[in-house]
Amino acid sequence: MIVGTVKEIKNHEYRVGLTPESVHELAAHGHAVLVESGAGEGIGANDALYERAGATIVAAAAEVFAKVEMIVKVKEPQPVERAMLRPGQILYTYLHLAPDPEQTRDLIASGATCIAYETVTDAAGGLPLLKPMSQVAGRMSIQAGATALEKANGGRGVLLGGVPGVLPAKVAVIGGGVVGFNAAQMAAGLGADVTILDRNPEVLEKLGIHFEARAKTRFSNRANLAECVAEADLVIGAVLIPGAATPKLVSADMLKSMKKGAVLVDVAIDQGGCFETSHATTHADPTYIVEGIVHYCVANMPGAVARTSTYALNNVTLPHALRIADLGWKAALARDPHLLAGLNVWEGKVTYRAVADDLGLPYTAADEAIA
Ligand SMILES: NC(=O)c1ccc[n+]([C@@H]2O[C@H](COP(=O)([O-])OP(=O)(O)OC[C@H]3O[C@@H](n4cnc5c(N)ncnc54)[C@H](O)[C@@H]3O)[C@@H](O)[C@H]2O)c1
Repeated sequence: MIVGTVKEIKNHEYRVGLTPESVHELAAHGHAVLVESGAGEGIGANDALYERAGATIVAAAAEVFAKVEMIVKVKEPQPVERAMLRPGQILYTYLHLAPDPEQTRDLIASGATCIAYETVTDAAGGLPLLKPMSQVAGRMSIQAGATALEKANGGRGVLLGGVPGVLPAKVAVIGGGVVGFNAAQMAAGLGADVTILDRNPEVLEKLGIHFEARAKTRFSNRANLAECVAEADLVIGAVLIPGAATPKLVSADMLKSMKKGAVLVDVAIDQGGCFETSHATTHADPTYIVEGIVHYCVANMPGAVARTSTYALNNVTLPHALRIADLGWKAALARDPHLLAGLNVWEGKVTYRAVADDLGLPYTAADEAIA
């Protein structure tokens, strides 16, 4: 198969769909790989590195779109990219179609076979192609929080781990899923006094077994939340209720009970956020202050560590990309119901139920595509 990747053109997106190492794997499987010149700049991978891995470098994205059978990207295609897709071409990337009627309309019109990273499943019922970005965001949340706690940034002037003779900072992590687990791991590793709140007893049990005495677990109810938030130097918002808006667990009123200069990092901001006073910010201007409390609410945290994020993403996307390239999309999807779950648009039809329902479009079962 001819596979290709292009330079991401969404604002401040530095990740890339294929690393040189992924190109190497595809080439070793006998596939031709076209890479737009400069596609890997954001991760420090130049054209020569891609060429050595077996890629053919082409000057313009248009040439990649025109020649390849499968495009591997990171972000949803932008309007100018959507206009270059053609019937039967495979698009393999994050799509997030449910809130995006324009993109969905264009993908339907393109006739392309569109596989969305975010809806590919695994045997444990998870979303394995989303997981690495949650791992990155969870780990980054502690770095971001530690910086925001510095006095010059509006924080209390507290070092997370303390020093001998001075107590460490108190970190409350709300939500003990992928983001929360990774945040807790970083905070505990730095020596902070960590409490993780969740309302799922099984999650609490797993966290308890993993962290032992390095982090406390606490059931998430109003009273416990209020107490932890009031005591914390740093609060991480890491809650997710699949398919629903994030509940506002920390009200504007609760900020009054907090220590001045404490920090809230709302990782869940991409789903609306779990603090009432949260609004999305950017890496260029990541924080703002309400009631003396520093808020960090960057919606695309992994973008700041494009290199780590790209490699983490490729680790999970490449195995599927290889199977699609080796077998053709139809056979690859027919063999793997979890990859089939990623099919969102095919031959002008919406094949993912939630997208069709949310946008009021007719739904076609993905099974039809592989029949
Ligand atoms: N800002 C970013 O750049 C970025 C990057 C990755 C993920 N995220 C977001 O981070 C959020 C968390 O993602 P995740 O992968 O960890 O999800 P997850 O499903 O792994 O974990 C969510 C956890 O929240 C818990 N929870 C639900 N209601 C709760 C409540 N009332 N109190 C305490 N805990 C509660 C669940 O039991 C679960 O353990 C999501 O909104 C996700 O979209 C943001």
